[in-house]
Amino acid sequence: MHPQREIIRPVSLDEADALAPLTWASYRSLLSLADPDARRLCRPCAVAAWDGDRPAGLTLSAVSPGRPLEAGEQTLLSLSVARPWRRHGLALRLLAALEQALPALGVRHLAVSYSSRLPAADAFTATLRAAGWPPPEPSRLRICGAVRDTVAVFRDRDSLMTRMKAEGLRLWSWRERGAEAEALATGRNEAPAWAQPSHWRAMLDPDLSLVIGAAGGQAGDGADAGDEIVGWALCVHQPDLSRWFFPVGWVRPPFDRRAWLMGAYAEGAERLAARHGGDAVAVIETGSGQPGMWRLFERRFEPHVHWTDRMMSSERLLAP
Ligand SMILES: CC(C)(COP(=O)(O)OP(=O)(O)OC[C@H]1O[C@@H](n2cnc3c(N)ncnc32)[C@H](O)[C@@H]1OP(=O)(O)O)[C@@H](O)C(=O)NCCC(=O)NCCS
Repeated sequence: MHPQREIIRPVSLDEADALAPLTWASYRSLLSLADPDARRLCRPCAVAAWDGDRPAGLTLSAVSPGRPLEAGEQTLLSLSVARPWRRHGLALRLLAALEQALPALGVRHLAVSYSSRLPAADAFTATLRAAGWPPPEPSRLRICGAVRDTVAVFRDRDSLMTRMKAEGLRLWSWRERGAEAEALATGRNEAPAWAQPSHWRAMLDPDLSLVIGAAGGQAGDGADAGDEIVGWALCVHQPDLSRWFFPVGWVRPPFDRRAWLMGAYAEGAERLAARHGGDAVAVIETGSGQPGMWRLFERRFEPHVHWTDRMMSSERLLAP
């Protein structure tokens, strides 16, 4: 049996540089977050394993994005063990130490979400299983492809759009009607939490994000006075990844049955190609709460895209 010579302890701010290689670049700043207000709001909690002065492993968590602190929900952002120390039970010890430390910070739930394309996805899944977590399930489906390939997906895009417009579909850019959409989302509180645009506000592309509407007058009469906002498809440019991401597409019932979201994505792809060329890469996402869309993604999009992945999610209730 491997002797347990590694020491596991909470991470202090001055250890941030040494531990940075053990987490993703986008999370490293959490290790050195010193401002007390920022710490209170992000609730970073990290535990590391040391073999002498050599960092052997790290696990890092923070408050779940978009959730109030009082809800007590934390997300496991990363768990990694440096190669020479793998398969000695270190990940399990790190996870256990993290789970023990969190209740004192007011955390009751620890959630995790990771891509099925992660090189260590299988090892990570096996580690969660060994730690007694509920089996992760696909919660979001992402597809990534060049917008020119949407021609293959929307073979009959022109007739699709003509038909949907005749049924009453209206589309505006976020620049035109985004403020109204956002007021509706929060005011009447009719959009589910995952579809709220507020989280994306600062990043939205105002010309490629679309507000979806239903004609108010007789369908197809071109009237706009009574046009009603019924959903949106948000688009965010991710320059570091050279792609446009459509994180949220939502249409409220009963309009969600008319495949209008597909119409919005078809229009979004066309606008993206017109502005940035057919090679522009788009990532579209749907969630397990939208089973119809999920099936459509699998059937219509998946065969034509560069890659797809599923975000695997699990969560665990912590012992108080
Ligand atoms: C996933 C990872 C953290 C596991 O660390 P580890 O210290 O090797 O894991 P442990 O030794 O604690 O493994 C505990 C159990 O999990 C399972 N397990 C862990 N890695 C496994 C693998 N590669 N294949 C199959 N089962 C595995 C086994 O059941 C193992 O028990 P066993 O060794 O007695 O069979 C490590 O492989 C890693 O750092 N990967 C790269 C970073 C990463 O992508 N992290 C995940 C997302 S942030």
